[in-house]
Amino acid sequence: MVHRPWSIVRSIGAFHLNTLEFAIDLAQRAGELLLEYRRRGLPEDTIRAKTGHFDIVTEADVASERLIFNAIREAFPDHGFHGEESANHRLPDEPWFWVVDPLDGTTNYAHGLPIFAVNLALIHDGLPVLGVTCDPSSGRTYWAERGGGAWVRFGGQDARLSVSTIAVLDRALLSTGFLAGRKLDPSHNRAEFTALDLRSQSVRRLGSAALVLAWVAAGLLEAYWEEQLKPWDWIPGWLLIQEAGGRVTELSGAAAGLASVSLVASNGQPGIHDEILATIAGVRAQRGQS
Ligand code: IPD
Ligand code: CA
Ligand code: CA
Repeated sequence: MVHRPWSIVRSIGAFHLNTLEFAIDLAQRAGELLLEYRRRGLPEDTIRAKTGHFDIVTEADVASERLIFNAIREAFPDHGFHGEESANHRLPDEPWFWVVDPLDGTTNYAHGLPIFAVNLALIHDGLPVLGVTCDPSSGRTYWAERGGGAWVRFGGQDARLSVSTIAVLDRALLSTGFLAGRKLDPSHNRAEFTALDLRSQSVRRLGSAALVLAWVAAGLLEAYWEEQLKPWDWIPGWLLIQEAGGRVTELSGAAAGLASVSLVASNGQPGIHDEILATIAGVRAQRGQS
């Protein structure tokens, strides 16, 4: 039997806490808060540009992170915290820490497009041990624990996830994303996008890395690639995909690690994963970039 120290029920006074259920509940509560902000409407003056109108933060991002931060601090005072709206650039040093995107897909959210998520991962000794991606619009919460599989909770029931079995690129539905700072580098990912769009069934740009990764784990998409991601965008999905039988590497083909920023995440079929790596490498060789 796999030893899962992160699933141990932890006693805080008279209160017993299962870390996995805590994380699922917390992501769902943050998701409810996001829906509540949307129901109330998002006045223009509550949406702030970070580096430009293509890179925004709303009051809901900040409120969601505050809720998550406070709950983690209270339950696990010894754990580190790395959340998008408050993190510095370094990952925490604590042996246990949380990586948090309080709202992934902010641009969709600000327009009322229901493709956004709350993303949480718990890291122990350099590896994600729990990952949760809550999709509040659909009521689905995707979760995984290391060695325990990947699952989706819907209507109170958990169903096991596995990646799709499509094995060739021309039958594969892919997804990608483009940098917030792309206006400074307009060629970013364009040739890669064109090459893979022509070789696959199609490429979607859905605007939430977190949900796209969950959908690869669920077998709805065959693969996804993106560059210059942040840990909170992809680490929960990394665990979801590994536990659902897929494969996650850097764009170079190197194994993914906590510090990775570029990603190919797939159902693990060589005819898809290796072909994406080779196509991207080919495009870059043509323009003299490694
Ligand atoms: C962004 C989304 C988007 C991806 C960007 C992310 P945010 O996160 O995941 O799909 O292309 O790279 O920064 O800003 O909505 O949390
Ligand atoms: Ca994000
Ligand atoms: Ca975010």
